[in-house]
Amino acid sequence: MLKKIIKNKIGMGILARLHHLLEESVEYSRRINDERYIYNQVRKGVVFSDATTLEGECQIETESFFVGKVSVKSYSLIGTRNILFGGDISIGRYCQLAPYVSIYSKNHSLQTLTAYNNKRLFDSRLKELDEYKSVQIGNDVWVGIGTTILSGVKIGSGVIIGAGSVVTKDIPDYVLAAGNPARVIKKRFSDELIDLLLKWQWWNLSPSELLAFEKLFFMKLPESETGMIQTITEIIRNR
Ligand SMILES: CC(C)(COP(=O)(O)OP(=O)(O)OC[C@H]1O[C@@H](n2cnc3c(N)ncnc32)[C@H](O)[C@@H]1OP(=O)(O)O)[C@@H](O)C(=O)NCCC(=O)NCCS
Repeated sequence: MLKKIIKNKIGMGILARLHHLLEESVEYSRRINDERYIYNQVRKGVVFSDATTLEGECQIETESFFVGKVSVKSYSLIGTRNILFGGDISIGRYCQLAPYVSIYSKNHSLQTLTAYNNKRLFDSRLKELDEYKSVQIGNDVWVGIGTTILSGVKIGSGVIIGAGSVVTKDIPDYVLAAGNPARVIKKRFSDELIDLLLKWQWWNLSPSELLAFEKLFFMKLPESETGMIQTITEIIRNR
């Protein structure tokens, strides 16, 4: 009896190792054929759906989970354990999502007898009633840790979302918003500076092109506002 148990255990151990090796080699061959793993920095345990696109030079931290149609533009960072569940989710350039951010572009049906749509009932057919509304995040957006962004929401460029927020409605460009539900707490800069930043759209430049403007990115506001306005006006005039 003891012999049989030992033999079984050894057998199971070998099988488990073999299974693990097989899994690793499948993952490896998938990665070497997948552009997302070549032109971006993707850490361990990240799961992409086939419809996920990364524009390039993105950084995806450990164990983040992409479902459905999710697009992330260049130089953006998706923190550890984000869940981006599309529908249709687009994230602009130079965004930073802190750890534990969730974006859901999906709702269960609200008009039916039950919101339950699990496969245990009617073999998943109730999932056909799910409602998807796109989520759009602009450029240069910083989303604080543990934030949830709900379906149908559009967040402008230059926005900061405070930690632990629940974003239920659109957020305009260049504001700081926070809370549950997230409300605009303040405009980040003067209207004049915001207008100029939206005209310049620095996020369309690559990090090497931005080297020429490095000084601007170290200026502190509001003290340097006048200097910043003059410099950006000049940049826009000369391009
Ligand atoms: C929003 C944040 C950047 C602070 O910005 P700030 O301009 O210094 O804002 P203040 O601290 O002056 O707060 C302004 C108001 O917003 C409130 N507030 C700030 N952060 C908040 C948040 N996360 N949720 C709810 N309310 C918040 C403050 O209580 C204050 O309210 P009051 O005016 O009624 O007193 C900061 O609170 C935050 O959430 N940072 C994110 C941290 C994070 O996720 N780090 C991960 C690293 S990637």
